[in-house]
Amino acid sequence: MLKREFRSGVYAMGAVDWDRRLFDSLIPLPDGTSYNSYLVRGSEATALIDTVDPARSATLMHQLRDVDRVDYIVSNHSEQDHSGSIPTVLEKYPSATVLASPKGKSLLVDHLHVPEERVKAVKDSEEVSLGDKTLRFIHTPWVHWPETMVTYLLEERVLFTCDFFGSHLSTTDMFVSDKAAVYEAAKRYFAEIMMPFRATIRKDVEKVTSLEVDIIAPSHGPMYDQPDFIIDAYRDWISDRVENTVVIPYITMHGSTRLMVEYLVSALAKRGVKVQQFDLAVADLGKLAISLVDAASIVIGTPTVHVHPHPVVFNAVNLANALRPKLKFASIVNSYGWGSKAVETIAGLIPNLKVEVLDPVICKGAPRETDYQALETLADSIQAKHAEAGLVESAATA
Ligand code: FEO
Repeated sequence: MLKREFRSGVYAMGAVDWDRRLFDSLIPLPDGTSYNSYLVRGSEATALIDTVDPARSATLMHQLRDVDRVDYIVSNHSEQDHSGSIPTVLEKYPSATVLASPKGKSLLVDHLHVPEERVKAVKDSEEVSLGDKTLRFIHTPWVHWPETMVTYLLEERVLFTCDFFGSHLSTTDMFVSDKAAVYEAAKRYFAEIMMPFRATIRKDVEKVTSLEVDIIAPSHGPMYDQPDFIIDAYRDWISDRVENTVVIPYITMHGSTRLMVEYLVSALAKRGVKVQQFDLAVADLGKLAISLVDAASIVIGTPTVHVHPHPVVFNAVNLANALRPKLKFASIVNSYGWGSKAVETIAGLIPNLKVEVLDPVICKGAPRETDYQALETLADSIQAKHAEAGLVESAATA
């Protein structure tokens, strides 16, 4: 990636990882990602804000080849995609000091073995002068690790937010140009990384928006020169607002669960309820996570394997539980051959979901007319619950 000056003495640097397809051996990256680093040159000192994934250290070091002096390396977040090149940068600049939150200091020492004496812990709202430029550090714990903070460049009104407001998106754009693409990528990022910390993030959004900010400069994806675009999106995602949507992740072995799911999808659609259906055998779990940001309901569809849900369903249900979406209602559609405890097992897997559980539909073998009637009843219940919540018309139109 280029080193580009976007404010006097302030440079966007780092690496675009166009072809990375998986993060943490877990998170799909359909559009790649970037690790943004920023250089701030003051009249008396220079700071590097965040580094890059260690696999891309060479790119950053090339960008720093003509930078004689770095006095501070600001570590907003200790996860290695931003901090992993700190040891290499410290080698090049032996008098540089790393600035991190107190928890960030301890994580850098533990994870990267950065010498303790080379890291200075900064307090919430502490400022460091670079001469004609000033950095203020604002602690934003649990966005999304316990040590996270953001850095505000007062004179230029630039807020360096690291993961906060970020998007896994590879692009040559320095600033957002394709809003639809960035919205989708940022929502995916929020869903996968930030959603479990929704309540905390509410406070942090207000904290950072009390500042006068012209540019939000995250460490993934393009910068925002219209900060309201991403702030408004975050305000929506962290709100309690849900949509008239049912998410149906399912898997099928011999077709019974699929028949029930497809029937239910039609029954809900006839009642004016939107559905997002995911066959877990092929689904992009990131898309499933995005759908959970706004959905009011989830229905999990599973056949029975050794009395329990299909193993792939365990993974998806565990993900939904871990992401703590604002779902209000849940149910289960289950098929079995000779015995099942799948409903009880799934119910035990979702303690984080504050949902009302609607009567499941359990079918022995291939679905019969009585099973389809039970699915009609489930569709009625979901429509009625959505209507009570003001999400859909109450009169059945099926
Ligand atoms: Fe981009 Fe939490 O690391």
